[in-house]
Amino acid sequence: PATITNSSFGLTAAPGTATIGSGTTTSVWQYNGSFPGPTIVAKTGDNILATFQNKLPEPTIIHWHGMLVDPANDGQPHQVIRTGETYNYNFPVINRAALNWYHPHPHMTIGKQVYNGLAGAFIIRDAEEAALNLPTGKYEVPLVIRDISLDKSGNPVYSPTGGGYFGKTPLVNGTKDPYLDVDKTVYRFRVLIGSTSRVFKLKLSTTNLPTNKEIPFTLIGNDGGLLPSSSNQTQIEVCPGERLDVLVDFGSLDPSTKVMLQDVNAGWNLLEFRVTNTSASYSGALTVTSSIPTLSAPVAKRFFSFDGMSKINGKLYDMHRIDFMVPFGQTELWTFKTNGNGPHPVHIHGASFQVISRTGGRGRVFPWERGWKDVVLVNDFETVDVLIRFDAYKGVYVMHCHKLEHEDNGMMMNFEVK
Ligand code: C2O
Ligand code: CU
Ligand code: CU
Repeated sequence: PATITNSSFGLTAAPGTATIGSGTTTSVWQYNGSFPGPTIVAKTGDNILATFQNKLPEPTIIHWHGMLVDPANDGQPHQVIRTGETYNYNFPVINRAALNWYHPHPHMTIGKQVYNGLAGAFIIRDAEEAALNLPTGKYEVPLVIRDISLDKSGNPVYSPTGGGYFGKTPLVNGTKDPYLDVDKTVYRFRVLIGSTSRVFKLKLSTTNLPTNKEIPFTLIGNDGGLLPSSSNQTQIEVCPGERLDVLVDFGSLDPSTKVMLQDVNAGWNLLEFRVTNTSASYSGALTVTSSIPTLSAPVAKRFFSFDGMSKINGKLYDMHRIDFMVPFGQTELWTFKTNGNGPHPVHIHGASFQVISRTGGRGRVFPWERGWKDVVLVNDFETVDVLIRFDAYKGVYVMHCHKLEHEDNGMMMNFEVK
């Protein structure tokens, strides 16, 4: 995808065509003619001025997923604009360095719009990250991973059921069967799961040895930026909306080694890395620590049951109803529970949270769920506790299931921070 580095920019959503590999041209919806949308790069303290134009045949709005913005800039369902209209965004970047993203947020059509191609990465940089000298330029690669189904002429088919939608083919950065030539050095991959429903279990493995060998990688960050400490991993399970920041060292691999990024759940090859003869030195960090404040003891508790495929605490979303109030600046303990019909990736606007426990199901908090999060995967029969404190802005925000078909069904609530 193209890159936007100016903090003042325009984004236009419109139907268009994209080549998704091996000559297949497909009809998609795009931001600025790009599939996925352009990668926006900004730094903490910048002021974003974005002019959004809707040239789709239906209402839409942009939400900056993971960005701490006031409600007027948050792109919530009631803020949709009609065909031909413009929305002006103006907000300071107060987030720390992280990979965030942007996507539409209309009610009942978010699944279709994201599926059709409207999504892009939004990278924030800051001084803490800069001091680590992590790989940059061609050694820092955003990977937007999703699935898609194509009809005989190569156009996307989206026919969701209430339970979700699972495409038959993986796409990385909008490309089918992609490969990347990599030098013998350290790469930084910024992974964004842009599927509507599909949960991926990522691993790296060589494919041209007699026995396939897993290649460990270093996990350094997630939704909310750098983790308290990096760790070596071989498999990571990630759901729609989640992000990962990983370092992979190709330095010790023989040229012509084929390394495959795979999805264990579907048994898919996602992306092939072809190691070249070129070595490049790397003097940046190989391990990372970051001091992340622990939120204070909670002063209130809230319980949310994700019921079936469409309700939270027995209710369908009503964009004009405020479901609950949250005091500004106070830590609360929120509990998410599911009974079945999951998994439910739970996402909250307006603040990041800290996952403190998971009981039932997988029964633990994973290394990639430490630090700051804005999406947490709640599988069937799991109970997940998070600490959250809204200390950026007051006003109305939403919490919803990020399985977009569930969100479209109404698995969403409004709350007001005041
Ligand atoms: Cu990524 Cu409310 O959404
Ligand atoms: Cu969001
Ligand atoms: Cu759900």
